[in-house]
Formats: sequence, C-alpha cells, structure tokens
Amino acid sequence: MSAFTDLWHEISDIGGTAKDGYVRLAWTPPEWELRTWFEAEARYRDLEFEVDGNTTMWATWNPAGATGPAVVTGSHLDSVPHGGAYDGPLGIVSAFLAIELLRARGVTPVRPVRIAAFAEEEGSRFGVACLGSRLMTGTFDPERARALTDAAGVTLAEAMAGYDFDPARLGPVPLTGIAAFVELHVEQGRALTVPVGVGSSIWPHGRWRMDFTGEGNHAGTTLMGDRRDPMLTYAFAVLAANKDARTHGAHATVGRVAVHPNATNAIPSRVTGWLDARAATTAMLDELLAGLGTKIATRAAKDGTTVTITAESTTGEVGFSDRLIDRCVTVLGEKTPVLPTGAGHDAGVLSGFVPTVMLFVRNPTGVSHAPGERADDEDCEAGVEALADVLAELACR
Ligand code: GLV
Ligand code: MN
Ligand code: MN
Ligand code: MN
Repeated sequence: MSAFTDLWHEISDIGGTAKDGYVRLAWTPPEWELRTWFEAEARYRDLEFEVDGNTTMWATWNPAGATGPAVVTGSHLDSVPHGGAYDGPLGIVSAFLAIELLRARGVTPVRPVRIAAFAEEEGSRFGVACLGSRLMTGTFDPERARALTDAAGVTLAEAMAGYDFDPARLGPVPLTGIAAFVELHVEQGRALTVPVGVGSSIWPHGRWRMDFTGEGNHAGTTLMGDRRDPMLTYAFAVLAANKDARTHGAHATVGRVAVHPNATNAIPSRVTGWLDARAATTAMLDELLAGLGTKIATRAAKDGTTVTITAESTTGEVGFSDRLIDRCVTVLGEKTPVLPTGAGHDAGVLSGFVPTVMLFVRNPTGVSHAPGERADDEDCEAGVEALADVLAELACR
C-alpha cells in the first residue's frame, strides 16, 4: 500500500460506499466523522488544528522561522447526495500527504502552509454552493445563511448548533493571512488525458429556484380543460432549459424537484424545480436565463399557473491567477495542460480575493457527482507530488 492508498482507505467507508456513492452532507453524522478524522490527522502530524466561525477546519504547518501570510491548500469534505469519493476529499488527503512529502524531502518553508476544509461546498443541504468560502470572503450575508433551511425544514443555525458550533460566529474572516490558495481536485469530465493539469478558469454558473403554483385537485374528476397544473409548466421549463442550453452552447440541468402534495391521484398545487445553469461567459449565461424566464412566464400564463424564479447562488467568470498558473507550469513541466472547468469550487470564490490556482487529477470515467467518479491511485500519487512541488515553490521563497 502506498501512503496515498493508506490514508485514502481511512475515509473510504465514511458516509457510504463506492458502489452506492457517498452522502456526506454538512453538519450531519458522516460529515462529523470526517471532521473527527481531519482533526486526528492534523494532530497526528503535529499540525496546529483550529475551526473558525464558519466551521472551516484549518491544519497549519508552521515550522520555526516561517512568517507572514500562509500558502493555503485544501478543498471540502461534504458531497452531493450519492456523490463520488473524490470530489472534495481528494484535495484534503493530498494536502496532508503533500506536507508529509515536503517534510520527508527536508523542505523548510519560509511561510506557514495551511490546509483548509471548507463547509457546505456542494450546497447540497442548504442550497448555496461554496457557502463556507462565501461567508469567509464576506460575499454571503451571515443573517441570510443562518435562516437557510434544508429539505426537512431544519435551519442552518439549528444544524450548526446541533454540533456545538455557534451560528452567531458566521461571517467574514480576514484574508490578509493568505498569500496564495491552491486547490487540488479531481477533474470532473474527460478533459484531462495526463495525470495532472492546471486550472485556468471556471465557467460562470448559478442555481435558480423555480416555484410553480397552480391548483391542487382530484386526478379523476377534474376536467382536463379545468386544470391549473404546475407540473405542466415545470415540465415545459425543464425541456426549454435543455433546448436553450444546447442552442447557447451552455449547460442546464434540473436535478432536483419537490412536488406538493406528491400524490399519484392529485393534481399538484405546487412544484419547485432547481435549475443549475452554466456557460462560458456571463453574457451567454444572462442571455440564457433571460430568454428562459420569458418563455416560462408565457407558458405559465397559458397553464393558468404562476412562476417565480429566484437566484440561490451565482458565481461570475473566474480566471485563476496568471502568475500562479505560470509558476505551476514552470514547476510541473511546460507540457502540463492548462484547462478550464464547468465545475464550481471554493477556489472560484477565493480567486476574487487572493491569488488562486487549481490542480486537476485525471478522471478516467469522466463521471462526477455520481458513484462512477474515479481517479487512479497512480494519478492521485502524481497529484500529491505536483501539489508538494507547487507548495514548495510558493512557500519557500
Ligand atoms: C460543485 O461541484 C459544482 O460545480 O456544482
Ligand atoms: Mn492516520
Ligand atoms: Mn462537487
Ligand atoms: Mn468539489
């Protein structure tokens, strides 16, 4: 077993199995188990452990003589429901191992090196993607965060308090202590054909909640012409999003839906669908959303229903630091691919505030946010080496 497979297996049973995928939602028992593991790893490796007000966990390597702002690496430990093993945890496991490798090589950084594990990156429980990093950077209102609810109606404040975290402490954290942020992540499509690449940019993207309201009624007795069925407007919206995304060269997905009362023999009174849309430029994304909004409203009028579309979280165009991309390519080899991604990351949020870059590890299946997500052990080991090389480059001078 390699150092990678050893450490990887420590968490591979937490919150699921490779076959059925992982359910590691923020502030739930599996995520708590991962938090406990993170703290134990940090302490075992003589790293300073702390948890900030946004429940981001930090493990700091602060060797004698290291001063000034830190080089931070990290990712997240939460998952989408029935997601893959690698999205998030790979960046955390690789960070611990990269520090181990640097120590074994006798490298002494002149700056602290810190590992960050952000909370609720997927937004799978409370709807807002990258919530921990948004709160840290002051780009999400703590009051609004505390009031977010999950599918069971539990508020975020209640979920945090359930683990003895104080929701009153949510909010911005000074970023002056961060010299650079490097997030290593599994690549989430089939874009990478060598073990490791460098991220260039993230497509603008967002999540919109679409609330369709009509009139609940009996499935057997209500004449077809008398119905005000929000399911029809919802179905139209799903098809229109797919069609328009194709014509705009964009991506649109409705992967979550809630129906009230959700009975086979009742016309629903309410349907809520969550739209995830992404495009290469903000202009393309705005155009897609505006066009869809008009079409869906027109259809709602025809169906006798109403629709409201509300943005839950959005991220504009993200370009990682040119200077850091150049330094990564210099360290990793001139042939290292530099590639964009359609996936969102805490790195995308942080890039608006501190020099940021990402490293991607090849994904042989091209599947992500699903149990089929994979990365080969050898590629993950190459990822650890690459991360160690980049951290040495950034933290040693
Ligand atoms: C996060 O992984 C996202 O892109 O939704
Ligand atoms: Mn261990
Ligand atoms: Mn993800
Ligand atoms: Mn991720």
